[in-house]
Amino acid sequence: MDINQITNKEQKLELAKKIADKVDNGQTIGFGSGSTSYLTAIEIGKKVKEKELKIKAIPTSKEIEEVCKEYGIEIGNLLEDEIDWAFDGADEVDTNNDMIKGMGAAMFKEKLNMVNSPITYILVDDSKFVDKLGDKHPVPVEVFPSALKYVSVELKKLGALETTFRGMTENQNSILDTKFKNIDVSLEKKIKQIPGVIESGLFIGYNVEVIRN
Ligand code: A5P
Repeated sequence: MDINQITNKEQKLELAKKIADKVDNGQTIGFGSGSTSYLTAIEIGKKVKEKELKIKAIPTSKEIEEVCKEYGIEIGNLLEDEIDWAFDGADEVDTNNDMIKGMGAAMFKEKLNMVNSPITYILVDDSKFVDKLGDKHPVPVEVFPSALKYVSVELKKLGALETTFRGMTENQNSILDTKFKNIDVSLEKKIKQIPGVIESGLFIGYNVEVIRN
């Protein structure tokens, strides 16, 4: 990631430092993805080196895993390790702390970390707050590639106004960006029930604490 290209970098860096302050020796931490998480991983890495801490990371993307390795942070996994706490960014957060994530295409492992962590700190600069989910971004849906056509039809039955193929995830699945007029509390589960859907970027009702500037 080119650090100089990160939008709202100063705000994101301030959030990153707040999270690095929470790191203690011996912890297993879930690392999110995206530019805010990238800056946070670096701040944590610096602290780990400086204070000679030993922590484990459960990263949600290859990019974040690389940062962890660069700073000598051990990589754990969800089968053998228990997450103490996790952090992540978001694309949209509403007044209930419900979110749209996945504009960086990493929401599948992010959701796995979230459900495996007692608490997830969501780092959001001012640009991420919305009155209503969907105000600024589509809902990304990760789909098994050969199910793309079927899932697209089913998403439209659920009220999707459009579904646009964006590309592939690092899990070798397809991403469909999906615009909904109304996003209600049941939509995340309805999307997940469609055969061929791996995960959606809707995060409704998770145990999160929003950290803002
Ligand atoms: C990654 O796919 C996402 O869920 C990110 O957490 C989200 O897109 C926020 O990214 P930024 O921190 O780059 O804004």
